[in-house]
Amino acid sequence: MALGFSSSLSLFFVLVVFNLVSGKKVLEDGYEVTTVVDGHKSGLNPYTIHALPGSSNLIVLDSSGSTFYTTSFPLSVDSVINRFAGDGTSGYLDGKAGNSKFNKPRGFAIDAKGNVYVADKGNNVIRKISSSGYVTTIAGGISKDIGHRDGPAQNATFSNDFEITFVPQRCCLLVSDHGNEMVRQINLKEEDCLKSSHSNLGTYSLWSIGIALSCFLGVAIGFAASPYIIRHTGRSQPPLVHHDMEASPNQIGGTSSDLLLLR
Ligand SMILES: *[C@@H]1O[C@H](CO)[C@@H](O)[C@H](O)[C@H]1NC(C)=O
Repeated sequence: MALGFSSSLSLFFVLVVFNLVSGKKVLEDGYEVTTVVDGHKSGLNPYTIHALPGSSNLIVLDSSGSTFYTTSFPLSVDSVINRFAGDGTSGYLDGKAGNSKFNKPRGFAIDAKGNVYVADKGNNVIRKISSSGYVTTIAGGISKDIGHRDGPAQNATFSNDFEITFVPQRCCLLVSDHGNEMVRQINLKEEDCLKSSHSNLGTYSLWSIGIALSCFLGVAIGFAASPYIIRHTGRSQPPLVHHDMEASPNQIGGTSSDLLLLR
C-alpha cells in the first residue's frame, strides 16, 4: 500500500518535471473569445463577475473603484451598465446601496435569494447587500481588526486578504482566508437559501389544499359508491378510492407533512 502510494507519487513528479522540461501544450479547438464589455467606455474596471441566479442579470465588481455594477444578457459593448452599490469612492458606509461605501472588495458571492455577500478586504469585514438593496455588515463589524478570531460573526476577525464562496447545498459561506491560510465557515439564514421562498410556499400550500380536497372528494365518492360494491360482490371490502388516497401523496413525491395534513 505504502509502496503503491510512493511509487505513484514519484510517477506524478516525473510527469510534472517532464511537462516542465518539455513545455508541452495541448491545444483544444472549438472556443471563441468576444469582448462584450469595454471598461474604457463605461468607466469600470471589472474584477469579478457573477450571474444573479434565476435571471439574466449580472453583477460586476470594480474592486479598484470599490463599486458594484449590474448589467444583463445579451451582452454587447453597448450594454447598459448601472451602478448598483458603492458610490465610486472607497470607505466604509452601510445603508442604502446607492450611497454605501466599500474598500477595495476582493470578491463577492450571491445566495439563492439574490443577496450579495462582499469580501470587503480593505475594511476586514464581510458585508451583505440585501436583495432589497440595503447594505449591512455581517461579520467582523465590532473590531474591524486583522486577525483570525472565530465565534459570533460580529466579533470575528479576518486577514486583509480573503475571498468568499456561497455553498447552496450547505446554506453557508466559505471564506478562503489567504492571509491566515484558513478556510472559515459562516452558516447563513435558512430563508436565504430557498429559491424565491415566498412564491414557492404559496404554490406549495395551494397544492396541499388541492390534494386534501381531492382526497376528501375521493372519500365522499367512496362512501357513496360503497353500497354498490357491497351489493355487487356480496362481501364488504374497503372502497378502492380509499386506497387511492393513501397512495397518491407518495406517488407525487409528497412529504410526511402532506400525510399528516391528510390524516
Ligand atoms: C463580542 O463583542 C461584544 C462587544 O464588544 C462583547 O460584549 C461580547 O462579549 C463579545 N462576545 C464574544 C463571544 O467575544
